[in-house]
Amino acid sequence: MRVLVVGGGGREHALCWKIAQSPLLTRLWCAPGNAGIAAIAECVGIGAEDIPAIIAFVRENAVDLVVAGPEAPLTLGLADHCRAAGIACFGPSAAAARLEGSKTFTKEVATAAHVPTADWARFEDPEAARAYIRAQGAPIVVKADGLAAGKGVVVATTLAEAEAAVTEIMEARIHGAAGAAVVIEECMLGEEVSVFALCAGTEAMFLGAAQDHKRAFDGDEGPNTGGMGAYSPAPAFTPAIEAEVMARIIRPSLAEMAARGTPFTGVLFAGLMLTATGPRLIEYNVRFGDPECQVLMLRLESDLLPFLRDAAAGHLPAEPPRWRDAPALVVVMANQGYPGPVVNGSAIAGLEAAAAVPGVAIFHAGTRGAPGAITAQGGRVLGVAAMAADLAAARDAAYAAIALIDWPQGQFRRDIGWRAL
Ligand code: AMP
Ligand code: GLY
Repeated sequence: MRVLVVGGGGREHALCWKIAQSPLLTRLWCAPGNAGIAAIAECVGIGAEDIPAIIAFVRENAVDLVVAGPEAPLTLGLADHCRAAGIACFGPSAAAARLEGSKTFTKEVATAAHVPTADWARFEDPEAARAYIRAQGAPIVVKADGLAAGKGVVVATTLAEAEAAVTEIMEARIHGAAGAAVVIEECMLGEEVSVFALCAGTEAMFLGAAQDHKRAFDGDEGPNTGGMGAYSPAPAFTPAIEAEVMARIIRPSLAEMAARGTPFTGVLFAGLMLTATGPRLIEYNVRFGDPECQVLMLRLESDLLPFLRDAAAGHLPAEPPRWRDAPALVVVMANQGYPGPVVNGSAIAGLEAAAAVPGVAIFHAGTRGAPGAITAQGGRVLGVAAMAADLAAARDAAYAAIALIDWPQGQFRRDIGWRAL
């Protein structure tokens, strides 16, 4: 199979790394990729959101399967354009990708499907939003309605914090047009888990779970980020909870999407809160999580390509995926300042020595250059992942590798996995 992976982050590096091991693969491209991906795939100088250029490339190069990494190309209709051109694409249509693009849409689907989730209300008027917040009390959650790169959510512990969030999102427009409306939610308490389901219309198959550290700093402090580290499996996510999530959250949501004429195909990522009254949906994403994907790919024993190929063709493989028994953990190294503005171009050395630590795999999230001359490009820059006999050993291996990376401008959390350890 000739495969094009779209995207250029740690998730896409992990997907390419896994796909590159498939006996079904004949050629692998990544658009745009990054310096790490370039070692295992042919990077193509096309942006992940340049749909016309991607379609032209896919046609010229007789690509058999397009694998969408991030949500942005999907919300722009990558899968629709591929299907119109007769090319298989792993990922949902733009209409189904609204499960990630609009928080309001997700809440409507969840409510219609009787999926357990937080009570919510949506506001286009900041004054009305503030009045609702005062009536509900704190803690309370304020979200920009549109796409804000995982950063448009404020879990406010005080009323002042919640009202300030409304001002920043709706009036200062710190996330741009995504802040035209806000969704305000009941604050759910519990442990958070990222659950992945391979979906083809109304069929779904469990595709692993992980726990992610969303806050920038140690002790789960600081601003929300795209994710500073993750581990899999998630000890709190038992087989009984898995069955409940598939039966009460994933499958009813898929049935509702199909009933609306917008069936979902691809990987559905459910962010869940494991509350005292059972698992409840926080949000959906329409793609693998990053960095969660990095630990899932390390643990996945089965060939990934048949799963992606079959789902893209509208059905699921007969056999569920096989996993390695060993847990995996990843620590994200980010540029100083992330999730705020960062300075690009700082040099990163020592990657070869770090990658040689037993059990370690380094996934590039935002890098440029060639081996020996790698520079940082973007917020999250590296995922230092490790698999070992137990989670503590995986953590120790990841941090041993980080100690060998010479990048003074990097920052990372020192407590990844603390909840499970
Ligand atoms: P989201 O972008 O919707 O995943 O939200 C980012 C983070 O905010 C989540 O991972 C949770 O940690 C937190 N969060 C979002 N919604 C809620 C909620 N209703 N209750 C508690 N925490 C939430
Ligand atoms: N790590 C969470 C996400 O990918 O959105």
